[in-house]
Amino acid sequence: MKLKTLLLALSCTAIVCTNVFAQAPIVIKFSHVVAQDTPKGQGAQRFKELAEKATNGRVKVEVYPNSQLYKDKEELEALQMGAVQMLAPSLSKFGPLGIREFEVFDLPYIFPSNAVLTRVTEGPIGKELFKKLEPKGITGLAYWDNGFKVMSANKPLKTTADFKGLKMRIQSSKVLDAQMRTLGANPQVLPFSEVYQALQSGVVDGGENTPSNIYTQKMYEVQKYLTTSGHGYIGYAVVVNKKFWDGLPADIRTALEAAMRDATKYANAVAQQDNEKALEAIRKSGKTTIYKLSDAEKADWRKALLPVQKQMEGRIGKDLIAAVNKEAAMQGYK
Ligand code: LMR
Repeated sequence: MKLKTLLLALSCTAIVCTNVFAQAPIVIKFSHVVAQDTPKGQGAQRFKELAEKATNGRVKVEVYPNSQLYKDKEELEALQMGAVQMLAPSLSKFGPLGIREFEVFDLPYIFPSNAVLTRVTEGPIGKELFKKLEPKGITGLAYWDNGFKVMSANKPLKTTADFKGLKMRIQSSKVLDAQMRTLGANPQVLPFSEVYQALQSGVVDGGENTPSNIYTQKMYEVQKYLTTSGHGYIGYAVVVNKKFWDGLPADIRTALEAAMRDATKYANAVAQQDNEKALEAIRKSGKTTIYKLSDAEKADWRKALLPVQKQMEGRIGKDLIAAVNKEAAMQGYK
């Protein structure tokens, strides 16, 4: 009798175990470097909710914000190794992987509006760029907006001459390096997670970012002046480990693709509003003086920075730059 009970208990345990294994969800670790309350942070959260719902819990998305798991460069390595499955790095951070073309998004004053950006990311250019990721073991799923950047420092930045000699933090993009050098500044690459500290301690004098990033990282508390120059753009490529993605059951992948499409719409819809709100909150804090360039001043900045396009032709590709300029021209931008 005792033996029978024992056998029954064992078989039950086996059944339970089998069921537990059968039901173990597929885990997607989604790592990113910004705060949750940013366009990217909210997009990641929305993707988690949609993906888990669409797959009836067969997929679990764990979102790790604020460089909790990895910093900029490490997160791409972690993705390639399969330590995380999903990221949304800024388009300025693919250069160190050997993919230079994404740096076209960093060219100063190349995008006159969100409409042109959308035509580029949603059109053939965006698709071609994603193909460059595949040989690196990465699949591109979507482009997410953050928005147009502002410049900040502890001195007013009204003309391009004001940058002379300033140490400016940049992301790891050679275009951003060229942009800062053209302004007479000394660019310094730093991971996002180290920027606040570097600004506070004077390792760098200033930087460029979107209002939502500056606000949520409290960078404005250590930057007295900010100029809404709109000279450049920050956006993201939502990427997955290719092997992981290709290995998913087809129905799961289809459900996740749909969830990503909806999360993308959401992230892009909240981006501009988030940045406007953040700029207002910075203004209200009274810690930072915000300077808005007049149209004439903007034209001067653009003129000073336009040579960067030519300089970077060899790195990014003349045809690619021309194709983006053509999209802008079709929207009436000269
Ligand atoms: C930065 O490093 O400044 C940004 O790319 C951070 C981000 O992901 O928005």
